[in-house]
Amino acid sequence: MKKMKKLKMGIIGVGGIAEGRHIPSYLALQEKVEITAVQDIRGKRAKEVAEKYDIPFVFEDYQSLFEVVDAVTICTPNKFHSRIAVAALEAGCHVICEKPMAMNASECEVMLEAAQKANKQLAIAYHYRFMPQSRLAKQAVQEIGEPLVTRIQALRRRKVPGWGVFTNKELQGGGSLIDYGCHLIDLALWLLDSPEPVEVIGRTYNRLSRSPEQINDWGNFDHKSFEVDDHVTAYITFKDGSSILFETSWAANIKEDHTHLSISGTEAGLNVFPYEFYQPKHGTFMTTTASVTEDKNFGLLQAENFVDSCLGDAELVVKPEEAMKVTRIMDAIYESSETGKSVRLGE
Ligand SMILES: NC(=O)c1ccc[n+]([C@@H]2O[C@H](COP(=O)([O-])OP(=O)(O)OC[C@H]3O[C@@H](n4cnc5c(N)ncnc54)[C@H](O)[C@@H]3O)[C@@H](O)[C@H]2O)c1
Repeated sequence: MKKMKKLKMGIIGVGGIAEGRHIPSYLALQEKVEITAVQDIRGKRAKEVAEKYDIPFVFEDYQSLFEVVDAVTICTPNKFHSRIAVAALEAGCHVICEKPMAMNASECEVMLEAAQKANKQLAIAYHYRFMPQSRLAKQAVQEIGEPLVTRIQALRRRKVPGWGVFTNKELQGGGSLIDYGCHLIDLALWLLDSPEPVEVIGRTYNRLSRSPEQINDWGNFDHKSFEVDDHVTAYITFKDGSSILFETSWAANIKEDHTHLSISGTEAGLNVFPYEFYQPKHGTFMTTTASVTEDKNFGLLQAENFVDSCLGDAELVVKPEEAMKVTRIMDAIYESSETGKSVRLGE
């Protein structure tokens, strides 16, 4: 039997998401990919991870890592996504970069240009697309007619990440929107077939996390230095006449955490979490449910799609142009909140 070429993978930034999602996924795909090298600004951490998972090379700088791999997985704080991705693409490596794609749309554009110039794959880890409910919704959305109103709620009652650098504006660029809300914006745009945004109005808040003695379910953080958003609302309109009502939070005075994405179309509507399909039929209102079981394999499916795309056996599910559109919308939400005015896009 012909032995398939294995993709040599390097991982840059070996913290929580690298060890929790990407490393186990690549290990489960050993027939197609091998983790060849790691690099982290914390050299000791990189060595520990390499020893634990039997990874042959540990580098102190990422330029040296590029020489021994075909592809890289970027799992650093957001500030470094763009510069590392561009360097990797220029060195001839395929790239999968953690979400959000970058700190802002200008950084995304540079990444996209580098990928096009190098003719290499550039994927962004918007893993919600690989969830079973999302994949089902992607098929069913063809039957809703024209989409009219999409509703997104990515809400946590008190879950400000109390670890890592999530509340550091300089390193992450934002809070609940750029960390959590971005997944649902990406998923909605994918389901809607990437409509063109025309106008965005948004408001960001952080009053709860800045007030002393807040209780928090996900560890401790310093309320005095809390500088990112913990609750965000937005209204986004598209060229095709459809709109998104959007809300995300890490901290809000609400009953409970809630993940909601629904689309109401001219013929029918659907809900993603849990999957349901709504349709007027047989003189009544029909609600169809599906036996979608909770499947935690989205990390594996994401990794497999990237690896297969690098090997020329698949098309990327999350394309960089699409991830950049998510960032353009997030930039507009932040700008609108700062100026108090709506932001026109695409003019
Ligand atoms: N897809 C998801 O749902 C999801 C979940 C969590 C985090 N993330 C994203 O993953 C990225 C990392 O998050 P995390 O939770 O793993 O954070 P983390 O702090 O646990 O890990 C980040 C690692 O990057 C290293 N690092 C920092 N600067 C570096 C640099 N310049 N070069 C090399 N290494 C560097 C740190 O030492 C650390 O080991 C962020 O972009 C975050 O938004 C995505």
